[in-house]
Amino acid sequence: MEGLKKLEYRGYDSFGVATLGSGIEVAKNQGRISEYAGAAIKLHGKIGIGHTRWATHGVPNDTNAHPHLDCANKIAIVHNGIIENFAELRRDLISRGHIFRSDTDTEVVVHIIEENMAKSGDLLSAVQDTLPLLKGSYALLVIVCGETRLIAARSGSPLVIGIGDGENFAASDMTPVLEHTERAMFLEDGDVAVLTPEKVEIFQNQQPVSRPVELIDWSLEDVKKGGFPHYMLKEIYEQPQAFFNTVRAITHDTLPKIIQHPKSVTIVACGSSYHTGLIFKYLLEESLGIPSRVEFASEFKYFPPPVQGLVIGITQSGETADTLTALKQAKIHNCRTLAITNVLGSSVCRIADTTLFMRAGPEISVAATKSFIAQLAVLMQIVNAGSQGKYDNILSHAHQAIEDVLLMDLAKPVALCKNAKSIFYIGRGPFYPVSLEGALKMKEISYIHAEGYAAGELKHGPFALLSPETPVIAICMPGETYGVMVSNIKELKARGAPVIAIGSANDRELTEIVDIFVPLPEMKPFVQILTSLVVLQLIAYYTAVALGRDVDKPRNLAKSVTVE
Ligand code: G6P
Repeated sequence: MEGLKKLEYRGYDSFGVATLGSGIEVAKNQGRISEYAGAAIKLHGKIGIGHTRWATHGVPNDTNAHPHLDCANKIAIVHNGIIENFAELRRDLISRGHIFRSDTDTEVVVHIIEENMAKSGDLLSAVQDTLPLLKGSYALLVIVCGETRLIAARSGSPLVIGIGDGENFAASDMTPVLEHTERAMFLEDGDVAVLTPEKVEIFQNQQPVSRPVELIDWSLEDVKKGGFPHYMLKEIYEQPQAFFNTVRAITHDTLPKIIQHPKSVTIVACGSSYHTGLIFKYLLEESLGIPSRVEFASEFKYFPPPVQGLVIGITQSGETADTLTALKQAKIHNCRTLAITNVLGSSVCRIADTTLFMRAGPEISVAATKSFIAQLAVLMQIVNAGSQGKYDNILSHAHQAIEDVLLMDLAKPVALCKNAKSIFYIGRGPFYPVSLEGALKMKEISYIHAEGYAAGELKHGPFALLSPETPVIAICMPGETYGVMVSNIKELKARGAPVIAIGSANDRELTEIVDIFVPLPEMKPFVQILTSLVVLQLIAYYTAVALGRDVDKPRNLAKSVTVE
């Protein structure tokens, strides 16, 4: 249960555990582990499997929660991913007399294993015979009565084996395992692992294979709240360190060849990572003149643009199904591929030709913060390297500027935002994606409707929505677009919308025309992007707290979305 709590960020609409006690013992429940009102779960045995769910097939309820059992209640499984051909398999199994209890795609797997067990009598071969029938993605754990083996299998969904002393573990990532061991093996697609307390054996195509044992340098402290009320605030405060560590790790020497002087770049990503991609595009084109495009990974597979050159997949988790699929598609088009991720051993590392790691450490809160800043550190270092180190000094000190904004008093913007019906965020150039990210943070954790817009676009429609209940947050920095931004702000004011502006601390003009002014201490290339982002994260965070939201686990979301 302690381990599952650490994985709750992957899904938290229900949870369940099964152990090998006197027979298979199961407990499962709708809702979050932290909110579980029942008595402590008392199951027996020393071997068990557990799961937290993010519903795909079947509503979140006790029955659809994993583990799922076969007809005879002798086999239990948990599953991440999706079995795409489950409807057909289910029909066949029902016609052969199997009784289904849930609406999940997962349940077909345990019934097929049941049939195969009846044929071979051996758990390992029953699982191995089952896997070729499954289309889709899975990380599976299986236990069966009368056995001391736990079987783990992966294809397209992450699975890590933790190597302990007289105990072994299998989990979606290392966070629940760190308490017990730092030694890990990352399974490859097609691997089937057999775990006992004493040993781990791995098979690929029924043949034994070995996978390297890696040491994970994330500390246990990193996955605890450390006195902060929420992981999100802790992670926001860890951003100076995350930026600093990443800038130092990505040097001119460690930059892979494929990213040096590409003719063109296509970025594929989702969610916040898509926004870092957009910021990168602005920086890359402006500083290096390299034509760049940014595509939603979810669109790229089905409507691939005529791509050539380098395709970069940005994904903090390294597991987002859409981004993995897009990178595979890029390879079909003979493009070279680079992944940028935070998670060593994640699926994206196996797909991309080359991987660059950011150094954010584990991020638990669903809303991306320090991983976002660390992604920017990687991308800014790429631009810096292409500019012959022109920004070396700025990047090696930028973490201090981030530190300076952490303690800013944001009570006024928060008081305005928390009563808003809707909030618009506007900016120009790289501050346009900054505004997209600010709005995304606000909507996902506060549940207030928020939209980011390129500042010039607001007049083409959204103006109709302006009112005293729709504040606009304008990111208005000195430079070429300053004058036109000020005009945009005046247009907003003339239509009754309260304006919060984020700008340079020396800006007298803005202070006079806007309702609330948030002064940023330092105006340097790159730094303004980072500090304005952090201010927007903090405004979203404090607004969500003021509204009593569940900041770390907002409703309906998951941190790592491993389905398309
Ligand atoms: C989920 C998360 C977002 C994240 C997106 C992409 O939707 O809730 O915060 O930005 O996935 O995640 P990735 O791991 O690929 O960066």
